[in-house]
Amino acid sequence: MAKKIYIATDHAGYAVKAYVKDIVTNLGHEIIDLGPDSADRVDYPDFAKKCTEAVTSDAGSFGILICGTGIGMSIAANKVSGIRAGLCHDHYTAKLTRQHNDANILCFGERVVGKGVIEDMVEAFLNTEFEGGRHATRIGKIEEGCSFGADLG
Ligand code: RB5
Repeated sequence: MAKKIYIATDHAGYAVKAYVKDIVTNLGHEIIDLGPDSADRVDYPDFAKKCTEAVTSDAGSFGILICGTGIGMSIAANKVSGIRAGLCHDHYTAKLTRQHNDANILCFGERVVGKGVIEDMVEAFLNTEFEGGRHATRIGKIEEGCSFGADLG
């Protein structure tokens, strides 16, 4: 089934964005580009915000966030309730973040992975279903327990 995918980057992920958009389109999905429109320096939390807003307000949609390492985007995106952003490095992590974490956003770093790995990751992420079961219980605990760090002092 065709999926709707929102994509955003920062300046360090911009160069690979067109390549990723083509991969998603060739797989038969719809891609919506939330920017930026150039490689000028920007702050990745601003673009993580655009993508998380889009994904949380459009049921069944997914996101792709790319920065230099993928780390900043994933940290920012995971602040948002209902977002499960998986920072991935290869086919295995992209597949497992769907199967076990029901990730709705794929994050990766343009400076970390090459184009072949990117194609593999995007395909694995979009073609893999959540397994549910025990993994659904765990995701429920994440959603409930977002304040569990509050007591750590
Ligand atoms: C930008 O230089 C870089 O810090 C950013 O793209 C990202 O890697 C942050 O996590």
